[in-house]
Amino acid sequence: MSGQIPTLGRAELEALQLERLRTTLRAAYDGVPHYRRSFDAAGVHPDDLGSLADLARFPFTTKADLREGYPFGMFAVPRERVARLHASSGTTDQPTVVGYTQADVDTWAELMARSIRAAGGRPGDVVHVAYGYGLFTGGLGAHYGAERLGCTVVPVSGGMTERQVRLIVDLGPRVIMVTPSYFLAILDEMDRQGVDPRSTALEVGIFGAEPWTDEMRRVVEARSGIRAVDIYGLSEVMGPGVSQESGETQDGLHVWEDHFLPEVVDPVTLELVPDGERGELVFTSLTKQAMPVVRYRTRDLTRLLPGTAYPAFRRMEKVTGRTDDMMIVRGVNVFPSQVEEQILAVEGLAPHYLCVLSRPASLDELTVRVEAVDEAHDAGLGSRLEERIKQRIGVTARVEVVAPYALERSLGKAKRISDQRPR
Ligand code: DLL
Repeated sequence: MSGQIPTLGRAELEALQLERLRTTLRAAYDGVPHYRRSFDAAGVHPDDLGSLADLARFPFTTKADLREGYPFGMFAVPRERVARLHASSGTTDQPTVVGYTQADVDTWAELMARSIRAAGGRPGDVVHVAYGYGLFTGGLGAHYGAERLGCTVVPVSGGMTERQVRLIVDLGPRVIMVTPSYFLAILDEMDRQGVDPRSTALEVGIFGAEPWTDEMRRVVEARSGIRAVDIYGLSEVMGPGVSQESGETQDGLHVWEDHFLPEVVDPVTLELVPDGERGELVFTSLTKQAMPVVRYRTRDLTRLLPGTAYPAFRRMEKVTGRTDDMMIVRGVNVFPSQVEEQILAVEGLAPHYLCVLSRPASLDELTVRVEAVDEAHDAGLGSRLEERIKQRIGVTARVEVVAPYALERSLGKAKRISDQRPR
């Protein structure tokens, strides 16, 4: 049956990983000039891989490497064998193109079917896909996976929020796949139309593509009555479906380690850190044909934990920050997710916010623009949040409480806005 979650033991998994890793390193070395150059420069060869631990001797791959190879330079197969192209959602930089052979598209569909099943989806469910369709991997990734699992897919894509609500009411999806921020916009629209989310058939939300906190989970679940489950992935490694939270345990995301080998490194020294310690997540693909990636630095911060719902697969903790999302406010490192946590703890504030970091004179200033739940809000809301941010995060922020719906809603992935100058 499609989307089955393998129940192999850890030793069996590691043996499989080693065999697949060897094949991947060879294909990368033989097929991609970049890897030949970088392996040679580091003095390593695929034949040097005696155990999984030897991977640490191989060089990292970065977004800049992929950019240098734009558009097809990182492909390990002739372009004619590439069945599908996607592009990463770089907000400021030029995009990076990623490619899939037909077998890669198939593997991806299978892993997404697995992810939807792990989240609580079942064959026969109606699945509403509100991730963007197109070059972004979210829409088509979810689509192929849901079809593979045997679901009835509604390929809505993002946008036209009024119509999203109409389709949810009329077609009765049990599962919705969407960014958490756009789901909030859909819930707001339901409020506006007088639709009670609990009166719909929705039971499971598969949310990803951007960071969201456990506090946000509580808010969304309380408001909608659905089970909110995290999905993670990135185009360079495959797209959504690299790791998935179990809908039953909701305790972080199981990495599908039979296809992706995770490592966590110290983002400064690039030394490996032991499981359980936080750092930057690095992935090596184990089965990709068109564009194998070796030790790709994701910039996402997390830690690896033992498996629970699927014991052979390690979990990664919810990603709540990226090395490049981090704001440095007068020397203190602050992630937007920390601000979000505090916002959600103040009654009367809505989970729609924007962090703006500027340096008008010589000092950093952090402004948090946040919506109130009600038009007629209490004047003390802003100072309550300022106080919490000061006490819990240790920085001074100026809070501007704005009217409900005053901030622009993101239809797809949340934008990262910061005008902090590099230093
Ligand atoms: O966002 C793939 C995806 C689509 C994942 C739909 C989940 C659902 P990219 O556009 O290449 O791919 O962006 C990848 O988004 O490195 C993370 O920084 C962030 N990201 C993705 N999922 C999560 C998540 C897709 N669940 C980048 N939590 C990644 C936090 C996430 N951040």
